[in-house]
Amino acid sequence: MKKFENTNGRYGEFGGMYVAETLVPALKDLEKIFIECMNDKSFMDEFDSLMRDYVGRPSPLYFAERLTEYCGGARIFLKREDLNHTGAHKINNTIGQALIAKRMGKRRLIAETGAGMHGVATATVAARFGMSCDVFMGSEDIRRQSQNAARMKMLGARLISVEIEGGEATLKDAMNEALRNWVATVENTFYVIGTAAGPHPYPAMVKEFQSCIGREAKRQLFEKTGKLPAQVIACVGGGSNAIGLFSPFIEDDGVDLYGAEAAGDGIETGRHAASLNGGSIGVLHGNKTYLLQDENGQILPTHSVSAGLDYPGVGPEHSFLKESGRANYIPIGDSEAVGAFQALCRLEGIIPALESSHAIALAMRNAPKLAREECIIVSLSGRGDKDMDSVEDYLAKKGK
Ligand SMILES: Cc1ncc(COP(=O)(O)O)c(C=O)c1O
Repeated sequence: MKKFENTNGRYGEFGGMYVAETLVPALKDLEKIFIECMNDKSFMDEFDSLMRDYVGRPSPLYFAERLTEYCGGARIFLKREDLNHTGAHKINNTIGQALIAKRMGKRRLIAETGAGMHGVATATVAARFGMSCDVFMGSEDIRRQSQNAARMKMLGARLISVEIEGGEATLKDAMNEALRNWVATVENTFYVIGTAAGPHPYPAMVKEFQSCIGREAKRQLFEKTGKLPAQVIACVGGGSNAIGLFSPFIEDDGVDLYGAEAAGDGIETGRHAASLNGGSIGVLHGNKTYLLQDENGQILPTHSVSAGLDYPGVGPEHSFLKESGRANYIPIGDSEAVGAFQALCRLEGIIPALESSHAIALAMRNAPKLAREECIIVSLSGRGDKDMDSVEDYLAKKGK
């Protein structure tokens, strides 16, 4: 059985538990039960069996032959999280957190969501475990991800549209509102955070539940090619699919870790969501990390064509991996991401999520610089059905 390594919530100077006093006992309790669960065979057996029979794991590692030919250079392999039940990596984490909620005797789940994939994954596990579920979602995200809003309601969740004065009605506002709700309801409510951010123990817990992505991919590539990848690449919103992919490769010095951040219209325009490339160190949603803020610490507006990357912060371990030089975080703009989206549709017959398209775009940039014998693993974190309207709008505005 895997033993969980507790970092006490610190990744160098990043991380921590910067929350209202009322939440501290709940977070300490959660940390204790999480560690217990990680060391409990019956918990892990139930988790593994749901991953296999409900989610459909292991997800395939697919050699993208036509994309590789198109780019030239290294062979590109896609880790197909889009094929999971509910269509993204988010379900790996919500299953884990719902099992912990069950053990803690909490019958109400709350969640924040941006693109809606985490909201759908939380609504799904709430239905599966017979729990009630409230999902907080910015009204702008409900507009651009309307299909996911409908899916959550269909699954029996209550969708709470968030609009805060001066806010942008996207993911940050949804998370603010969910945290506020949790402070008032912590006795009976479990907050299912959707990314590797938030106060300790969430970044550690989400990493643990998402690390199946990297563990499977490492084994699968070895079975196919007998080697380690030269690079692993994932998009970074809060950073959960990326840290899940990176985690078993962090100690492998020969493997370069790449995160693709949302550069929106370009870092220089200020209309972006690239906290690691365009931000500075501060505290947001309970942890110390890189974020987009003004000189008074006020959070700046963000922009990305993909709702799931449209967030002004990033998980604390990514801040640490950036500072230590172990991982590289590259900004990818809207237009390059939409180009990669179209390339994957037409070359491979796979419609990727706009979030994942940022990682595909980075792989398309990097592959030609490597030899044919090298391999790149890309996290295809989700499918793009939810993004049809966003892509059509984007292309129409650009006159394409
Ligand atoms: C398909 C998909 N990929 C990636 C992300 C970004 O989240 P994270 O950085 O936590 O993986 C989202 C968020 O909604 C998503 O829906």
